[in-house]
Amino acid sequence: MNKKPLILGIESSCDETAASIISENGKGNPIVLSNIVSSQVDVHKEFGGVVPELAARSHIEKIDWIVQKAIDDSGIKIEDIDAVASTAGPGLIVCLSVGLSFGKALAGSLKKPFIAVNHLEGHALSPKLNSELNYPYLLLLISGGHSQYLSVKNLGEYKRLGTTIDDAIGEAFDKTAKLLGIEFPGGPQIEVLAKKGDPDRYNLPKPIFNKGGCNLSFAGLKTAVLKITKEIKNDQEKFDLAASFQKTIIEILFKKTKIAFTEFEKQIKPKEKKFVVAGGVAANKGIRNMLINLCKKEKYNPIFPPIELCGDNAAMIAMVGLEKFKLKKFDNLDYPGKPRWPLDEKAAFLKGAGVKL
Ligand code: KG4
Ligand code: ZN
Repeated sequence: MNKKPLILGIESSCDETAASIISENGKGNPIVLSNIVSSQVDVHKEFGGVVPELAARSHIEKIDWIVQKAIDDSGIKIEDIDAVASTAGPGLIVCLSVGLSFGKALAGSLKKPFIAVNHLEGHALSPKLNSELNYPYLLLLISGGHSQYLSVKNLGEYKRLGTTIDDAIGEAFDKTAKLLGIEFPGGPQIEVLAKKGDPDRYNLPKPIFNKGGCNLSFAGLKTAVLKITKEIKNDQEKFDLAASFQKTIIEILFKKTKIAFTEFEKQIKPKEKKFVVAGGVAANKGIRNMLINLCKKEKYNPIFPPIELCGDNAAMIAMVGLEKFKLKKFDNLDYPGKPRWPLDEKAAFLKGAGVKL
């Protein structure tokens, strides 16, 4: 029997240092042998956001033992690794450089192939770690830095259907949390507070709701939240604002996802209609439930990564590594870190004031 590939994935693009070993079972489905994630939340808490210099220093301190632990926990020997896959972008360059250099050095010393991975492609393929998923599919990527609808035709073949023209959804959650006095990263806490509040208490704006196809915009929401927080007098009003904010996001995603479905079908004419939702915000149960219900109505198969693989992790980086390894798509050891690396490189840059939709 052929030896199943053993791939080491390394992730250090932002504030999580992570390493993972994955392989395949007898049916050719991926299996996660280890998945170690060390978050830097405590390092950045007092600053209310990620401080690049501190993040990089923390990656440097941890990377050796995180990779060692991933190898130890998987039960394999280091020399059995078939390829090393590191995130090469997008992200903070000082952070990316840590995992990228470590991965290249390890691959070089083991004399095994090195694979440079796009972090966003990691999120895009993350549901493959727990469910059978073949191309093509529609992807909604919602994280701290990105909010995009993409049609995924094949490995590395992406067509962007819509994107945010200002803030990412995760960013909007984190900024709203900050305005409500919740410690960084507050996104997940908004969901907790929203459960205790009245979602109909505040009427918040839905920027570009009736135009711009499935492009998204959240900056106006943050401004509205800021105005209301100045008048908030008690905890109940805080909970109501969290609930109203989350409801507004859900309504925006409901409408924009329907538009994305139509555009995807026009473009791809898929035999099976599959909708993948990935990235940190995919952990939000309110958003999940709405999208699952919408999929039922529109005859789509909704596919989510397990909650623990929604946020940044290295198993998803190893997943891309595994697919590229099987296609012998390897990279040189001088592969650069890329702070900006869109999945659809041909799509127009759509950010900033004065964007015409
Ligand atoms: O994918 P991710 O871990 O990192 C990036 O690549 O950005 O996403 C992190 C983002 C943060 O903005 C965080 O607040 C948000 O995902 N997030 C959530 C929830 N869990 C994480 N936002 C809303 N509800 C959640 N339950
Ligand atoms: Zn991410």
